[in-house]
Amino acid sequence: MRLKGKVAIITGGANGIGLAACHRFSEEGASVIMADFDEVAGKEQEALCKEKGLDISFVQVNVADRESVAKLIEETVARHGKIDVLINNAGITNDATLVKMDPADFQRVLDVNLTGVFNCTQAVVPHMIEAGHGKIINTSSVSGVYGNFGQTNYAATKAAVIGMTKTWAKEFGRKGINVNAVAPGFTATAMVKKMPEKVIEQMASAVSLQRLGEPEDIANAYLFLASDESNYVHGHVLHVDGGIMM
Ligand code: NAI
Repeated sequence: MRLKGKVAIITGGANGIGLAACHRFSEEGASVIMADFDEVAGKEQEALCKEKGLDISFVQVNVADRESVAKLIEETVARHGKIDVLINNAGITNDATLVKMDPADFQRVLDVNLTGVFNCTQAVVPHMIEAGHGKIINTSSVSGVYGNFGQTNYAATKAAVIGMTKTWAKEFGRKGINVNAVAPGFTATAMVKKMPEKVIEQMASAVSLQRLGEPEDIANAYLFLASDESNYVHGHVLHVDGGIMM
């Protein structure tokens, strides 16, 4: 019970890595808000979680929309009275090489992956400052660290997430709030499964462990950074990528 009594918001919680994290966090005693844009998956997953007796509630949110984020925070505080952990996990891709990239698609990815992280953190931090503690975990990516073909927009946001993580670690350390990031490698979720089979095979063979990550591999890293076991880990980017680059 590594998160007993904690309240955690997990954005992008209705699918993939976020969904695995909702389960892991709840199994470890947390009350979880599964915050996601996808209402169909969110409601379906919430019902399945209730059947299993897991304390996971779905709240629909668009992280790119400040009003929607404000409602998410209001609802969380009304329901649970506090927010101990924020996992900024929601993210999208919209790949094209630079020459072919539509500026609207560039901006759309920035709105969710970059502004969304800013919106959620800015809304949650006052509650953590008042409480004198908190854990913020941002989701970067191998693409943000090393770049990736066809991902000008995505790589830009995931590199920016690292910059924001280190900045917030400097701003909020003195307030008792830990801020860290996880940089997943290629992980077997819908985001990767929509790529051609050949590309997926190439990605797996580039990994030292010779496989894609599973959502649970990343969820376990979130769990460590959300738990008291990481209380002296701060401003860190935890690479969970099977040793894709060393
Ligand atoms: P996914 O596509 O399976 O899940 C993403 C979730 O975010 C979905 O439930 C979606 O509805 C939600 N979402 C999208 N836009 C939203 C918005 N505006 N507001 C609220 N929710 C929104 O993706 P996956 O693979 O689980 O990715 C999770 C995080 O991990 C993302 O930040 C992604 O960039 C990152 N990541 C994923 C990798 C992978 O290989 N799958 C590799 C590196 C990083």
